[in-house]
Amino acid sequence: MSDHKTPPPPPNAHEKVEKNVGLMIILVAIAVSFGGLAEIVPLMYQAEAIEPLDGVEPYPALELAGRDIYVREGCYNCHSQMVRTLRFESERYGHYSLAGESVYDRPFQWGSKRTGPDLARVGGRYSDDWHRVHLIDPRAVVPESNMPSFPWLAETEVDASKVARNMGNLRRLGDPYTDEDIAGVADAVAGRTELDAVVAYLQGLGRHAPTAAAAAASATGGQEAAQ
Ligand code: HEC
Repeated sequence: MSDHKTPPPPPNAHEKVEKNVGLMIILVAIAVSFGGLAEIVPLMYQAEAIEPLDGVEPYPALELAGRDIYVREGCYNCHSQMVRTLRFESERYGHYSLAGESVYDRPFQWGSKRTGPDLARVGGRYSDDWHRVHLIDPRAVVPESNMPSFPWLAETEVDASKVARNMGNLRRLGDPYTDEDIAGVADAVAGRTELDAVVAYLQGLGRHAPTAAAAAASATGGQEAAQ
């Protein structure tokens, strides 16, 4: 019996790392960020590759105002704006939605909550007058409706300075608004009520709904459209 112990072998690199928490944290962070980069960076390039569909342009002033009011009033709590790629959806609403339709929607209004119908293709389905009556008192045109009334929209004028500011902010994010667009906001919304704005916005929804050809081009990343 001897209390003589063989000395431990000199620590190898692996052991040094395992026994040094600070170093371990740094190396783990580096390893994890490689994984993150591999996932995130390709997505950034894909986002750049998503081009607006033919004819999709930034919202004109009155529609932009309407869109803001739509968000403010929480319409998205009951209405989605995305037709799914299911047959019964496209038979009811029209062509399924494509990313290239929503490039100027910040934030996009796709959603999935459908207490009411999807609105992605509602433009042109009803007259302006129908929308006015419906928004002020839904039960006047759809007796069984449980949509809330929004009578104050008819009594409030659009705040032009807010729309111009919004447009400027969107331009900063890359939307191609010009100085003239921003300078023209005051005229474009002069004397218009919030109801006018929401109706204009609704009537524009789906205006650039894709055709079968656009969908095919989009599915191949626009390759066919370029030929
Ligand atoms: C609490 C849920 C709810 C909210 C909030 C709501 N809606 Fe509705 N909406 C409905 C329901 C339910 C219907 C179907 C019955 C009807 O037509 O009124 C509907 C129908 C509609 C329609 C007709 C769609 C079609 O294809 O027939 C439009 C347009 C519409 N809503 C716009 C709006 C707008 C704009 C707002 C916000 C200002 C809004 N809704 C807020 C529930 C809601």
